[in-house]
Amino acid sequence: MERIEAALLAGGQRYDSFYLYDQCIIQQRIEELQKTFPQYQLLYSVKANCFGPVLNILFDQGVWADAASLREVLLCHQHGLGPQQIYYSAPAKRLSDLEKAWDNCIIIADSLHELELLEEIAAKRCQQAKVGIRVHPQFAPAPSKFGVEEQQLFASKGFLNRLSHLQLVGIHVHLRSQQLEADGLSHYYQQVGELAQRCAHLFGGPLEFVNFGGGLGINYAPNQTPLDLEAVGAACAALAEQLHAQKVGKLLLETGRFPVCQAGWYAARIIDIKECRGEKFLLVQNTLNGFLRPSMALLVEGWSQNPAAAEPLYTCQDAFRFFLPGKEGPLERVQVAGNLCTAADQMARDILLPSPKIGDLLAVSNAGSYAYTLSPQLFAGQQPPAQLLLREDGALGMDLGILA
Ligand SMILES: Cc1ncc(COP(=O)(O)O)c(C=O)c1O
Repeated sequence: MERIEAALLAGGQRYDSFYLYDQCIIQQRIEELQKTFPQYQLLYSVKANCFGPVLNILFDQGVWADAASLREVLLCHQHGLGPQQIYYSAPAKRLSDLEKAWDNCIIIADSLHELELLEEIAAKRCQQAKVGIRVHPQFAPAPSKFGVEEQQLFASKGFLNRLSHLQLVGIHVHLRSQQLEADGLSHYYQQVGELAQRCAHLFGGPLEFVNFGGGLGINYAPNQTPLDLEAVGAACAALAEQLHAQKVGKLLLETGRFPVCQAGWYAARIIDIKECRGEKFLLVQNTLNGFLRPSMALLVEGWSQNPAAAEPLYTCQDAFRFFLPGKEGPLERVQVAGNLCTAADQMARDILLPSPKIGDLLAVSNAGSYAYTLSPQLFAGQQPPAQLLLREDGALGMDLGILA
């Protein structure tokens, strides 16, 4: 932690708000996943953190991409991935998105309408195209806007047969994020494997890929029990054997937060301090507009009976640790608010910090995923936070380069 605090303090000499990502942690987490799931190709969900140096670290380690928009497809392409290494899956893609993505990725259709658009593009280009389809399986607990409902897909055989320029070669399912329970997650992967078998029948041949989606959870709060990765790995190994026996090609696992969340910290300068009716308020640079999730946590806890439905805006209580890098002193109870003209602009309530002073840097943990990318940085015209990479080598191992 000393290394991180030193890097945070160094970053604070240049910036009033910034993210810091640690290359070593990202690499360790990917190695852990690759060792646990050797039969599976990992896809990184770019939406979690699209900082260029972070993408380079992941792609250099052999991770491919789960892209959720045309811009993410093109970004991955710029960072060196080939068209067979980028899977583009998102609801409501426009014809222009599909046309521009066409040569740069594997496209996963999200609806029957999208299959028609893809057929139109392939026919115009006189091509035979291989595409995947996202399925909303019958075992899903609730209706969804994502993918094609399984029953509807199986009732559309005639429609599928008329798509003379398309070959359906793979499926994508994603129902779960942030799973910490190994049995439940393994069971879900098994169910996707069974769905893949049914789809192979429908499509008339072995699937070239099955994308099981995400689900690998991490510990945000100290009281959470970590996911038993070894147990999930063993279940996935057995599943891989079954699927390879059915001649399924690639097995894909998606992950966003697992490699990057705990590799990231957010830091913001305390700009002012006030007392009001006995409470101390720290006013820091770029709160919810710099890192939305801690503020959402306060709002959602107040609002919702079902906070889990708020992923990735909200995960659980006590998901973020607030600290003053390099500082010690008597603890004071404070509220953390910011410089936006809204009372929702609170980051922490009733936390203890050691003698906070104007000019100190406040740091927040678990800021590597759904943080920079999920925060309304344009709100109120504030200067957005910088992004910095702490490299594994060099003085202090750090590089204070900002994303261009
Ligand atoms: C389709 C899809 N796959 C994977 C992920 C990554 O989820 P996580 O960050 O929980 O690994 C997401 C996140 O929203 C997603 O929408």
